[in-house]
Amino acid sequence: MNQPVMGGVVAVNAPSFVKNQKLISWVAELAALTKPERIYWCDGSKEEYDRLCSELVAAGTMKKLNPAKRPNSFIAWSDPTDVARVEDRTFICCEKEENAGPTNNWVDPKEMRATMHQLFDGAMRGRTMYVVPFSMGPLGSPIAHIGVEVSDSPYVAVSMRVMTRMGKAVYDVLGTDGEFVPCAHTVGAPLQPGQKDVAWPCNPTKYIVHYPETREIWSFGSGYGGNALLGKKCFALRIASNMGRDQGWLAEHMLILGVEAPAENGKPGAKHYVAAAFPSACGKTNFAMLIPPPSFNGWKVTTIGDDIAWIKPGKDGRLYAINPEAGYFGVAPGTNEQTNPNCMASMEADTIFTNVALTDDGDVWWEGLTKEPPAHLIDWQRKDWTAEEAKKSGRKAAHPNSRFTVAATQNPVLDSAWDDPAGVPISAFIFGGRRSTTVPLVTEARNWVEGVYMAATMGSETTAAATGEQGVVRRDPFAMLPFTGYHMSDYFQHWLTLGKKLEATGAKLPKFYCVNWFRTDEEGKFVWPGFGDNMRVLKWILERIDGKAAGVENIFGTTPAFSDLHWEGIKFSAEQYDRITAINKAEWTEELKLHTELFEKLKHHLPEELEATRQQLEKRLAA
Ligand code: GTP
Ligand code: SPV
Ligand code: MN
Repeated sequence: MNQPVMGGVVAVNAPSFVKNQKLISWVAELAALTKPERIYWCDGSKEEYDRLCSELVAAGTMKKLNPAKRPNSFIAWSDPTDVARVEDRTFICCEKEENAGPTNNWVDPKEMRATMHQLFDGAMRGRTMYVVPFSMGPLGSPIAHIGVEVSDSPYVAVSMRVMTRMGKAVYDVLGTDGEFVPCAHTVGAPLQPGQKDVAWPCNPTKYIVHYPETREIWSFGSGYGGNALLGKKCFALRIASNMGRDQGWLAEHMLILGVEAPAENGKPGAKHYVAAAFPSACGKTNFAMLIPPPSFNGWKVTTIGDDIAWIKPGKDGRLYAINPEAGYFGVAPGTNEQTNPNCMASMEADTIFTNVALTDDGDVWWEGLTKEPPAHLIDWQRKDWTAEEAKKSGRKAAHPNSRFTVAATQNPVLDSAWDDPAGVPISAFIFGGRRSTTVPLVTEARNWVEGVYMAATMGSETTAAATGEQGVVRRDPFAMLPFTGYHMSDYFQHWLTLGKKLEATGAKLPKFYCVNWFRTDEEGKFVWPGFGDNMRVLKWILERIDGKAAGVENIFGTTPAFSDLHWEGIKFSAEQYDRITAINKAEWTEELKLHTELFEKLKHHLPEELEATRQQLEKRLAA
């Protein structure tokens, strides 16, 4: 099936196991446009992964870590200008601007196609075009969807093997005429004949483009994370949210965890699954791998996923969730043996680290890994770094958005159902922002509508996961502000409609909770210990679901009194508790203004129930 490209520049050379003519034609078209030196069809094998990693080492993109310390692991350093998602360069190009809504950047698809065509023209000159077939969700499962990413970045190819079910088997599922989401990616750095490559090619101009109607993704100029690993945010959230709206399901920025109560009288304890949406770098990976404190004897938390959930209503009226990914692309700084031992165990070997620091003995380091930093490091910008100098200048050894890429199967607490195509039933939704003030530790919504309101109006301080100013409070509805691929108000309506549909089945609906681990004291220190101790909140949530825990009604919903939480094994006073649960009227008056501002912005399609809920809240607050 060798097909020379028009102009005879490069042969498409599709292997015989690729039988999907639409795919072959699309690859041929892209090759004709981008003019790569060669095309390589990934098979997803270990041998291929090892070979591409060696090539990345030879090219200077990655270094192999000391195998005695970190077997089969690598460190990659990006260009200092290409370190995080670029939200201001991310576009939802649906036919009508109105359908993108005021929270997305919109450009007319015709105009955008012309722009992208121009940028992609010759963009892969001198490079290899990798064809990367992947499945989001278990291979061949009825809930999974296939994508094919064409990229000129071998770093993307190896990362996709860790993050998704990538390889030859996808072609069997795809068959001769199966559907796939085409994901076109280039770092936008063509090489002239004889031109020496740089360690991390990228382009100062960046475009992360989605065409929701035709389910296509085009990404130009970046090789980092969500900008380049197109199965993740671009497909599994922005495109999938559109699929979900059309087909009656949800694509969410949520972790999924299982939590099992201790056995009682020889019977295994009750097990629940919860899904939790926290904005980028606000604690999903950590919550998904939580180890309960020692006083929670017999309680066990297991991971289904750490970043994305696809959630579908079952015939029984319950919601079932799967993790469409197969790996974790997690935040390194702050991760250590105390905060997240399961995560540390996951990355003992077979891990790709990006933008962390390199130790003199060939291992990795980042801020927060150890109390005392090593005396000397090579920092993420390939420069010498000393602890002594950093003490004065505050210069970070690892980039605040440095990350690890690791297969889910390396997680010691991976849930046995993580790969189950049927998904797991969800008992609760938890929403949580990063708020140093105002928002209490945990609140239960009284009903589905008030839960949707709570999630819709959630605010959070911006983090290093996206470029731009950090620590600024912004509304981040459902932790989906950067990821909802259509009008945010229509997305709220989709949640409300789903709630009504489930209610009509008579099934027990999941409850909604709002949490905040991040209230600080006068010195800016977190008051709540967080991490494993978040189990104390999770236990209360589970007991509420099972009708066993008490709570106190306030103007937003129900919160636990100090005596309603389990305090064994921790010194945490009622006064401290008050600091992270107090509802300050002046602060909430300001907060409600921000809700009003959001609703003003989303006014056009905003569901009436949400505005009515806001007005009731305003009244309760004024009373
Ligand atoms: P994305 O991968 O960007 O979507 O992030 P995430 O939501 O998975 O966040 P992650 O769990 O990686 O945590 C981000 C940062 O917050 C890390 O530095 C963590 O150490 C820190 N963090 C996580 N949980 C807690 C907590 O309970 N308390 C405090 N104080 N910090 C936390
Ligand atoms: C996030 O920013 O929410 C991430 C990292 O999970 S990235 O894959 O870069 O989007
Ligand atoms: Mn995320």
